[in-house]
Amino acid sequence: MARVRWTIGNWKQNLFRGTAELLATDIVEGIPAELLEGPVRTKIGVAPTLVALDALAPWSRPAGPLYLFGQNCAAQEEGAFTGEVGPGQLADVGAHGAILGHSERRTHFREDDALIARKVQCALQAGLRVVLCVGEGLEVRESGEHENFVISQLSASLAEVDPELFQDRLILAYEPVWAIGTGKTASARDVGAMHKRIRSWLTEHHGATGADRSILYGGSVKPGNAAGLMAAGDVDGFLVGGASLEAEAFLQIVRLVAEAS
Ligand code: PGA
Repeated sequence: MARVRWTIGNWKQNLFRGTAELLATDIVEGIPAELLEGPVRTKIGVAPTLVALDALAPWSRPAGPLYLFGQNCAAQEEGAFTGEVGPGQLADVGAHGAILGHSERRTHFREDDALIARKVQCALQAGLRVVLCVGEGLEVRESGEHENFVISQLSASLAEVDPELFQDRLILAYEPVWAIGTGKTASARDVGAMHKRIRSWLTEHHGATGADRSILYGGSVKPGNAAGLMAAGDVDGFLVGGASLEAEAFLQIVRLVAEAS
């Protein structure tokens, strides 16, 4: 069975309910009909700000084509944790999943692998999909230790996950920190090598279920570099930041992901 392809827009702390609705409308109206009617070749997701999630319900699965993701999720279901939102609460406002371990959360909010591991387990347990992000900073890349670094992040971030929960709800995203929002993209060769390493780790530790996980690339993905990155090998789509805020650019990336051989 072919692995599932995904194109997911991470809108970060941008847009309001009204502008998020407008962007979702433009995206949904521009999705090529064959992607909706034929065998779907890329699933399409967006991760709006939390307070706009429920406003996007009319465009989201199963009523519409979009899968909705939160950009974060608490490590526990509920309780006395001021400011937190649990996976059940995310699902309640329409989310199908959550992005976890994004480098902006790791850096600005000091989230470490141990916390992310608990978040991943809690979200999967609650039935959400999880896009787990891993990626090295520039210093690590320059030291040549990037593959070992990413594998240790991956292994630690999945340390709490009950293997039974692996199934089809876990999606990986390799996002080199130095390529996020900087306009710098990793070369297709570097991306292919890292994805291959991630895939072999997943296969070694989680067998066929691990081997089937979708591995996305993220970091300055644009219409101009998406086809080359899809051809890198072991790339099952993208997590797109900046370019996902423009419907036409995002749609071009969606098409390139769907059409890649
Ligand atoms: P970018 O962001 O596409 O703007 O680099 C990617 C991400 O943060 O997921």
